[in-house]
Amino acid sequence: MEETLLGWFDQNGRDLPWRRTRDPYGILVSEVMLQQTQVERVVPRYERWLGRWPTAAALAAASPGEVIVEWQGLGYNRRALALHRAACHLAASGWPTDLTALPGVGPYTAAALRNFAFGEDVLPRDVNVERVERRTGRAFSGAAAQALMDLGATICLARIPRCDACPLARECPSRGTRDAPARKQSRFEGSFRQRRADVLRTVAAAPRRADRLEKAVVDSLARDSLVVVENDLVRLPS
Ligand code: ADE
Repeated sequence: MEETLLGWFDQNGRDLPWRRTRDPYGILVSEVMLQQTQVERVVPRYERWLGRWPTAAALAAASPGEVIVEWQGLGYNRRALALHRAACHLAASGWPTDLTALPGVGPYTAAALRNFAFGEDVLPRDVNVERVERRTGRAFSGAAAQALMDLGATICLARIPRCDACPLARECPSRGTRDAPARKQSRFEGSFRQRRADVLRTVAAAPRRADRLEKAVVDSLARDSLVVVENDLVRLPS
């Protein structure tokens, strides 16, 4: 089954910029961006980021505020600071043996780095990869990682799988079945998360008086070191 999948990937795989590099720093940037943001939105931002900060040392030399501004629009801004702190670690001491020692790197991202950057035969299991494994009842090797991600993102969809277009359908015990509807993602509109994003964008444009902003939101951003409150002025960290 893996061979069939790899043959399909040869013909149908997406040409994504982080698939043209083995530079561990580039892979790290892409995987942190992809943790909670969709591929199409990540592509242009990944290219801009690598253009601006082509190495971990270059990123480490930036200020947290610059990094937060460059991250704007990707969402979940704490990831930007984690990536910056990871770059500081890399610039100072290189790559750790245990990659999860890096800020923002959990078991999934560590496995992605080990495979895509360091060439190890490990399979990073994101939700798409897990779904294909569960439905097919097969285990795949690390060589199938990118193919599984593409199959899961374009064919083996959770709600309406396109089994008619699937190279694995003939051997798939779950052919024609759908997953139960997932729990609805809570609304972003009007949420605390949206108000955090709004305040951060406002403060990124120019420092603001704290009393003009929602206190609970500012406190929460300050706890995450995304903003600094000083003399009743809220600004990005320098
Ligand atoms: N999602 C997470 N990592 C990915 C990758 N390397 N390619 C495509 N989608 C992904």
